[in-house]
Amino acid sequence: MKVQLENIYNSAKADIENAKNIADLDEIRLKYLSRKGEFNNIKKGLKDLSDEDKRTVGAFANKISEDLEFLIKEKHDIFYSKEMDEKLQKDRIDITLSGKQVPMGKVHPLTQTTNEIVTIFQNLGFSVADPILSPEVETEYYNFDMLNVPKDHPARDVQDTFYSSIANNVVLRSQTSGAQIHIMENKKPPIKIIAPGRVYRNENINARKNNFFHQIEGLYVDKDITFGDLKGVLNEFIRLYFGASRPTRFRSSFFPFTEPSAEVDVQCIMCQGKGCRTCSGTGWLEILGCGMVDVNVLRGVGIDPDVYTGFAFGMGVERLAMLKYAIDDIRLFFNNDKRFLEQF
Ligand code: DAH
Repeated sequence: MKVQLENIYNSAKADIENAKNIADLDEIRLKYLSRKGEFNNIKKGLKDLSDEDKRTVGAFANKISEDLEFLIKEKHDIFYSKEMDEKLQKDRIDITLSGKQVPMGKVHPLTQTTNEIVTIFQNLGFSVADPILSPEVETEYYNFDMLNVPKDHPARDVQDTFYSSIANNVVLRSQTSGAQIHIMENKKPPIKIIAPGRVYRNENINARKNNFFHQIEGLYVDKDITFGDLKGVLNEFIRLYFGASRPTRFRSSFFPFTEPSAEVDVQCIMCQGKGCRTCSGTGWLEILGCGMVDVNVLRGVGIDPDVYTGFAFGMGVERLAMLKYAIDDIRLFFNNDKRFLEQF
């Protein structure tokens, strides 16, 4: 029996030496050392031996099966690290190669312009209104009534304003000025705030007009606010936004919610003031309306006009972007042409 065991041991050892890979070793383990393997077959014969022989042959059988386990493991480790090296070699990546370009989206030029304007006003001490105080869907009450707009004012006409079918007093706001009312209803002076947002008008679309566009409303109410403060703030804004060299003018105007009222024009950048299609031949483009908040508006929201005064303005974001970047057609902002958008 001992000889039999030795023979099995020797042939197993030879098999291990000849093994070429891990799969061969797995087969060898199965052939010799598994429950149905050759060693176990022999060990079954142990029960017919004397007690003395059982002990010595049993111990011998255990020892050589342990030796074989060891040899298999040793060879397995060699194969394993060799296979691992080959795999790493094959899958090697060059981390110094330049990567694939992933195209990045960009911030829309109107959003960029809005952000820039907002930052300038924040630096001048204005805060930004909570959007809940500046809704795009308004009632006539906020869009017109509280802004002192007479019932028969042409701006209320369906030719100019989009009315909703929800109820006959619900409109898509035609101006951000309604935010002034929401703000003053919610906060006592001093108030120094801006409200950016989208407005809608029932317009025939052309190079200068779209049926929706963007405004930034501003409101400053405190004791002793004067028209001088209004001019100072707006001139400083223009200087910071355009740089010092851009010709501008204040022109007196009329709005129902301000008294006195004015508009600010900036020289047309497309024609340098000579007159062209974009400025309809005038050489100037209007960028904002402004004025001292009308006493009727202040009284309407419960602010005493004998104690407080204020100024307000509403500027057109598209116009400001067109004048800065020499964009001659407002429709470019909304056509989603990547050749245009990628330039910003
Ligand atoms: N809401 C006006 C418009 O859309 C612009 C405007 C004028 C806003 C005077 C104001 C203001 O706040 O005081 O044409």
